[in-house]
This record gives sequence, C-alpha cells and structure tokens, in this order.
Amino acid sequence: PRSTTPLAHDDLAVGGVPLTELADRFGTPAYVLDEDEVRHRCRAYLRAFPEADVLYAAKAFLCRAMVHWVQEEGLGLDVCSAGELELAVTTGFAPERIVLHGNAKSPDDLRTALRLGVGRIVIDSTSEIARLAAAVPAGARQKVLIRVVPGIAAGGHAKIRTGTDDQKFGLSIADGSALHAITRVLGQPRLELVGLHCHLGSQITTVKPYLSAVRRLVGLLARIHEQHGVTLPELDLGGGHGVGYRPGEPALDIACLGTRIRAELTGSCAAAGLPVPRLAVEPGRAIAGPAGVALYRVLSVKQTGSHTFVAVDGGMSDNPRPALYGVRYAPRLIGRRSAAAPEPVTVVGRHCEAGDVLASDVPLPGDIRPGDLIGVPVAGAYHLSMASGYNLVGRPPVVAVIDGQARLLVRRESLADIQERDIGL
Ligand code: LLP
Repeated sequence: PRSTTPLAHDDLAVGGVPLTELADRFGTPAYVLDEDEVRHRCRAYLRAFPEADVLYAAKAFLCRAMVHWVQEEGLGLDVCSAGELELAVTTGFAPERIVLHGNAKSPDDLRTALRLGVGRIVIDSTSEIARLAAAVPAGARQKVLIRVVPGIAAGGHAKIRTGTDDQKFGLSIADGSALHAITRVLGQPRLELVGLHCHLGSQITTVKPYLSAVRRLVGLLARIHEQHGVTLPELDLGGGHGVGYRPGEPALDIACLGTRIRAELTGSCAAAGLPVPRLAVEPGRAIAGPAGVALYRVLSVKQTGSHTFVAVDGGMSDNPRPALYGVRYAPRLIGRRSAAAPEPVTVVGRHCEAGDVLASDVPLPGDIRPGDLIGVPVAGAYHLSMASGYNLVGRPPVVAVIDGQARLLVRRESLADIQERDIGL
C-alpha cells in the first residue's frame, strides 16, 4: 500500500476532495472511503500472497461498491450470513469465489448458500455436519472446509481471540473433536472435504502466531493422511491482520507475512511428506480499515472540573469499538488550522449513556468549538458494519472518493426509514 501508517489522509482531503466539502454536501456524521486506498490494499495482498486465494472478509465493511471493487481486483469473499451473501451475489460477485462461515448458521443461511452455489462452506461444529449434508440436493456435492482451533492465543483484545479452546468457534485439535468431525465429514457422500480452516483472532500485529498455526495445521493434515489416506488440498488461515489506529502504532507487515507463511508451509509440508496445499487468507480490517475516515460535527464543548468533553453528532451507534474493546483513536480537527495549543479532551457521542466515548484524553486544539469538524482516521472496518439503531438516530451514509470526485454509496438512514419498519399498534 502507499501508506502503512494510520494517517493515510491529510487533514483536509481524502482522494483529492476536501473533507469540509464532503461534510457540506453529504452532512455529518458520515463515513468517507478512499476507493484508491482500498484497491491498493487489495493489490498489496495479491503481491504478498501470489499463490494464494485472498478472500476479503465482508464483515469488516460491505456495500455494493465494495463488492465490486474487491471482485475487480481479483479477490474472493468471506461471508457469514445470508445477508452478506445475497448482497454480494446480487451485485454480481461470482458465488464459487465465496466462502460461508458461521458458528450458528441458520437454515436460511444454508439454504441461500446452496441455492446460490457458494464455493465453500466452513463447518464449525459437529452438529452442523448432518444438517448441512441433508440440505444438499441428491446427486450434488458441496465443497466444505473444517474450522479447527489450533490452541494459539493471539489478537488485540479478549473478545476477538478465537485461536484457543475457551471460545465458541471451531473444533479443537487438542481434545480430538477436529479429527472426529473430519471422520464424520469424510463419511458424508454429499460433502466434499477440501481442506482445513482456522482463524486465530483479530488485530494481530506479529507474524509468529500464523507460523505456529501453519505448523499445527500441517500436523493435522499429516494425521488425516495417516488415518484416512486422504490428502486435503486446501488450507485457509483466516484473517486477523492488525492495523495501526494511531500514529506510530504497529501494523502487521503483509509482505513479510506472505513470505514467512509460504516458507513455513513449504518447510512443514516437506518435513511431513505432504504436497503443499493451496493457501487462502481472509483479511477484512487491513483492507477496509485504513481506507475510511469517520466525519463528525462538534455540537457542544463542556468543561467540568477535571475534563473537557467535546460532543459530536455521532457516537457509539456508529462506532461501538471504544466501548467494546477499549480501542484508542486519534481524532483530528478538520478544515481549519488552529494556532491554539493542543489540550487533552474526551470526544463523546450524542447517545444517552456515559460510556458513549469515542476517544478519551486526546489532544485537540484548545479553541475547539461547536461547528468544528472532526475526522477519525482508520474508520473503514467494523464501524458501520457494527452500527446499531440506538436512540433511533439513523445510520450515517457512506461516501466514496477517488480522483477528486465524491459519490454517495450508501445513503443516510432517515427517520422515515426507521418509522416505516414500525408497523404500529
Ligand atoms: N475470517 C474469519 C473467519 C473471521 O471471523 C474474521 C473476523 C475475519 C476473517 C477477518 O478478520 P480481520 O482481518 O478483519 O481481523 N468487531 C471486531 C473484529 C471482529 C472480527 C471477527 N472476525 C473489531 O471491531 O475489532
């Protein structure tokens, strides 16, 4: 990518369009996506993993334009619901390049996946095996992967660690449930087991856990070969590649990750006497996150004995991440240069609770005032996709910018939209 720092955007412009202009034209709060940055990040992945399938993890952020960009750049897609899947396929994404995940796939998720012909379904539990097999039409065969838990602790916060046995996803290698499920799947004529999957967690900033995962998964491939005489051709290592949210925070080096994984995979397979399986990775955050800026208008500034609260027109309904994971952002004043010295302030939202904080103790110019614009960089992933309807404020729009041009991708959720769904007494 052109920029691996969180500050891919200068104070005033994204994709050649001043943020002030975008705020005037589209209103605030709003999410601004740098299309070029998304595309560059996709290309960086293809360069880093030349012999692998790179699947964009839709849960980070999805809209029709994003589906289209990712498809044009040659990536596949990871989805985890009928909703994500339908949006992608009705936008024209090739279903065979889509992988469906989920620890609790609904009957509708499975029906939709089979009807649309998704490339792979990732089995997450033993109880899912017979249910899926029964849903596959007679004479057909669905390609599946099994999600295994390698017993590796990694990830930026306890709530987003999925590599150990104390969480809900996948089948444990350590207690034998992975191997048991594999045996069951191999006995299902309507399921074609093509490989193993694991996802260690999210916001991982070092390469090492991925190399450990490769070794453990190749170990399991070898046991499968030994017990069943089957050589599985695919290995999907999930996503989780961390980004920096504030200046100077480390991001996972994707080029290095690609090289080291390839070397580890080649070495481990050679040692086990196995052919090298086809690799897949599923980055979400590292593609969408740094390409997005959240734009807010300051509504009030309040001094208390100990704090200065700068309240903006969005908050935890469009970004629950500080409240959920304690993530720290670096908001900045947009659209005017202030000569005032920076002072520590707490940027809060408009919602009805004290935990509605976007950034605590961050430096902003001492003369910050109502009407000012605030930009929060690295807001492209897990902001809007996790937005809620709290306080019926309506979800913000998404605007794309490229080459000095802005266009609306997703319109603001209006009060009319909200009221329409409520069918009354
Ligand atoms: N593959 C699977 C199976 C996943 O569960 C996830 C994310 C990914 C890929 C993509 O991970 P990424 O590259 O984006 O880290 N809401 C949290 C993150 C939850 C991640 C869930 N799974 C946050 O805001 O930090």
